Amino acid sequence: MTHLFPDTDQSPLRRVLLALAMAGALGFGAAGVSPALADDDDDDHGEIHDGLREYYERLETEPGYASSHEEAVAKLVRGREINVPYDYIATLMRIPNAFGEGAACVLCHSSTDPEHSYRGLDLTTCEGIKTGATEEPARALFEPGHAEESVLRRYLRNNRMPYGVPFDAPRDTENIRTIKAWINDGAKNDEVFRTEVLPLMNNPRAFGGFQACTDCHMSNQEPPSFHELDLTTYEGIMLGADPIANAAEGKEPEIIVHPGDAEGSALYQRLVENRMPAGIEPSENRDHPNIQILMQWIDQGAKCE
Ligand code: HEC
Ligand code: HEC
Repeated sequence: MTHLFPDTDQSPLRRVLLALAMAGALGFGAAGVSPALADDDDDDHGEIHDGLREYYERLETEPGYASSHEEAVAKLVRGREINVPYDYIATLMRIPNAFGEGAACVLCHSSTDPEHSYRGLDLTTCEGIKTGATEEPARALFEPGHAEESVLRRYLRNNRMPYGVPFDAPRDTENIRTIKAWINDGAKNDEVFRTEVLPLMNNPRAFGGFQACTDCHMSNQEPPSFHELDLTTYEGIMLGADPIANAAEGKEPEIIVHPGDAEGSALYQRLVENRMPAGIEPSENRDHPNIQILMQWIDQGAKCE
């Protein structure tokens, strides 16, 4: 973690580094991941090389194949009903770098008193984790048994948009309120959408970052459009994310706008929810094994023993 609260104006160098880090994190140019393997099979290590070659082939052709020791751990834990004890969760909350480089969760979320703990969130006890944010608007972070749709999962995996926006960019701005009101008023293809909402999608400075939403979400083709998400038209916004990838698996696209429910819509959530721990680089592994283990604990009922 370089800066907890980086400068709003990012240098051109930082932008380039960010773009590179992002491309790497998302696996673009993945052809470069396999180290060049020696071609001569007649040396003493021929068999080892064969094993390695098979490993890298599977890595590139089988999407779920574990590519590292850490991913293997998560896969094995998720693969069976391995019981995740609260003790393990308590440790994760207390140590730095547990979910990617950054401070320990309990540093900033240590009591239900909002004067001393952000969102009045107490992650130091099992009860506190299950109670969630006590500051208004108070809310639970998850429902035991349902990790997938939990607030906690979003905060650990989802980057705030625009990608790379500084942690402390204001969240209660007029532009964000415009998006919120438009969704809550039914997300219609009306005058408000055309004259107020759509122009914000094309504006690089609209949400405190340095790039327009449509710079990265401009069609249903990935690459170049992240998550096959098209924010350039009403139809694209309402269609949602990953329409093609999901269709290939017989699934619907990820809906990002639920008319009448801004709080439950990814389009709004992505503008106001910072990824945790505060200040984490957006390119940090979003499938970190410890995130998956925490989700397994929730899915198993979030038991306190
Ligand atoms: C350096 C301080 C800091 C650290 C460390 C930190 N947080 Fe936060 N957290 C915040 C702040 C500030 C907010 C409120 C701003 C926001 O929601 O983006 C917040 C909000 C949250 C929320 C939203 C709660 C709600 O209902 O609104 C969750 C969940 C959360 N943090 C979880 C975590 C977890 C899990 C960790 C450890 C991986 C963590 N935080 C580490 C500062 C921190
Ligand atoms: C520099 C490129 C970039 C910009 C600019 C950008 N995004 Fe993203 N967006 C991404 C990446 C990368 C992901 C996937 C990784 C992640 O979730 O952090 C993503 C994911 C999303 C998702 C989640 C899709 C899903 O499957 O749920 C939404 C919604 C989204 N962005 C909305 C926006 C909005 C709104 C803006 C403008 C405020 C914006 N993005 C600006 C790169 C970008």
